Amino acid sequence: MTLRITTKEEYQLAYEKSVSSPRTFWAEQADTFEWFEKYKEVVEWEFDTPSVKWFIGGKTNITVNCLDRHLKGRGEQTAILWEANDPNAESISLSYKELHSRVCQFANALKAQGVGKGDRVVLYMPMVVELAIATLACARIGAIHSVVFAGFSASALASRVDDATAKVILTADGNNRGKKHIPVKSIVDDALKLGCKSVERVIVLNNTGLDVTWGDRDLWWSDAIKGQSIQCSPEPMDSEDPLFILYTSGSTGKPKGVVHTCGGYMVYAEYSFKNVFQYEEKDIYWCTADIGWITGHTYIVYGPLLAGATSMMFEGVPTFPDAGRFWQICDKHNVNIFYTAPTAIRALMACGDEWVEKYDLSSLKVLGSVGEPINEEAWQWYSEKVGKGILPIVDTWWQTETGGIMISPLAGITDTIPSYATLPLPGIQPCLVDAEGIEQPAGEAEGLLCIKHPWPSMLRTTWGDHQRCQLTYFSAFKGMYFTGDGARRNADGAYRILGRVDDVMNVSGHRLGTAEVENAINEHEAVIESAVVGYPHDIKGQGIFAYVICKDGAANDPEFKAAINKVVVKEIGPIAKPDKLLVVPALPKTRSGKIMRRILRKIAAGEGDQLGDVSTLLNPEIVETIKSHAADV
Ligand code: WT7
Repeated sequence: MTLRITTKEEYQLAYEKSVSSPRTFWAEQADTFEWFEKYKEVVEWEFDTPSVKWFIGGKTNITVNCLDRHLKGRGEQTAILWEANDPNAESISLSYKELHSRVCQFANALKAQGVGKGDRVVLYMPMVVELAIATLACARIGAIHSVVFAGFSASALASRVDDATAKVILTADGNNRGKKHIPVKSIVDDALKLGCKSVERVIVLNNTGLDVTWGDRDLWWSDAIKGQSIQCSPEPMDSEDPLFILYTSGSTGKPKGVVHTCGGYMVYAEYSFKNVFQYEEKDIYWCTADIGWITGHTYIVYGPLLAGATSMMFEGVPTFPDAGRFWQICDKHNVNIFYTAPTAIRALMACGDEWVEKYDLSSLKVLGSVGEPINEEAWQWYSEKVGKGILPIVDTWWQTETGGIMISPLAGITDTIPSYATLPLPGIQPCLVDAEGIEQPAGEAEGLLCIKHPWPSMLRTTWGDHQRCQLTYFSAFKGMYFTGDGARRNADGAYRILGRVDDVMNVSGHRLGTAEVENAINEHEAVIESAVVGYPHDIKGQGIFAYVICKDGAANDPEFKAAINKVVVKEIGPIAKPDKLLVVPALPKTRSGKIMRRILRKIAAGEGDQLGDVSTLLNPEIVETIKSHAADV
């Protein structure tokens, strides 16, 4: 078991040691895991190409550390506690022993379908226990899992399946989300029509009993596991073998497949989980994310299970059947550690305090926040209403690419400051640079957030395109990983994340590229050109504002907006629907033809009177036209 810091002084000492002797520091953590073969070197790295390797030569399997090593001491303890969408349905509790058996059984089912080490398996599933089981089953046999959030469209799914050249898709007949019943299998069928030539099998979980159409490649989950043994020896994995691919949006082009590897990810997942949340034996831990995002990978599945925790999984949504659902679940299961997103906090805050006050939340010890900057008002509400003014809130900053939490208070150990993620975890060396890449001296500063030294769970590459990884993260500033975020640091070294400085939006904690949404909008036959920007939104953090140039006939009316929404839902999914749409005769451009997004962002934010000098534009007159119409949408 990795070590847990328990005092501020220990944090300070651990941090200093992690900087002065990173190899010794990380070896101490790594040595608490089970390895089939011990690593020979702790780390070798350079950030130019880049090449980063941790625990070199080590052989392990993350599922041995998540499951097998707990069987003796906590076999009967609940590993996964599942709460259904329907509040009247029974919860499911899987002990470590049961989870082990079911993971092994499904691993054998995958093997029987010809899946082996290095093969890619896409999981497009509801938040049911089988999703966690199947994720771990892939890891058991060394197959590379790629979980695709089940809210993405058939087209988005197909492009991920194609990029990963997945051999198998795992899905379910349907998905219960709030009042909705989503026909998941039929979305997979549509994706298969769009491409997915690499797919040999689709394994379908009998989940909601929804009618499905059946094809040659389809196999019911229940048939796949029939007769399969509940023992499956773990595939020995090199530390640097890929564990999973997770697609995420960037400022250009299609989403990229962020690749995480077995050894380093494992070490950092447990280490960060235990320290940030100050997990103690027997704590009931609940992260409300979906396993389709990195938060679910690291802090529903791997981190908690590595630590031997009880991890809750929730099928539903925060507002079904009412805005008290989260708190009802905390009360029902005596949740001790609760980790959610600012967008959920703001949405629930808007529903009124009575929903929180109705339930007994006295079991709670630690509150967490993730995914976007948490504004001071939401932080205070969370602290006072949910935390009764006494619980620590850990505002955790990290990214799909970082694999685990990078900057965050350690609950109850280091200080919290509203809207600050505060201090880096031991082993993490952030810095702020200016546009030229000059590092700001220690102390108070503002700049672009970079990381100077590798950490075990950092991305290794982007699937199938290493150059893209180099260009996106390692080319802006030599010798540093560039996060894409801007940040401010106070005199005590605490960081406040200001948000993305690139063309990436964060809508309700979901990451979307402006280019990705524009490409979707441009699919509409009436659209000539579009420009998408994020703007401040009370609940979502950022909303999507789309400026669209159209062929004759299209107008600023609800029908056209609905038609655009339809293509966006088809190309990406409901999360990418523009909140505001404005048909414009032209877009403000520089003389070299580049869209001036800065101006569009200001107008979208309602700050059209603070544009400054626009006279150098190719078409300065358009600014007034856009401004006068923007107020109406
Ligand atoms: C981007 C990464 C990491 C889990 C979920 C999101 C923003 C994330 C915070 C925070 C301010 C945050 C950043 C980051 N972000 N956490 N605590 N405070 N901003 O992962 O989809 O990869 O998005 O989310 O802008 O770059 P992701």
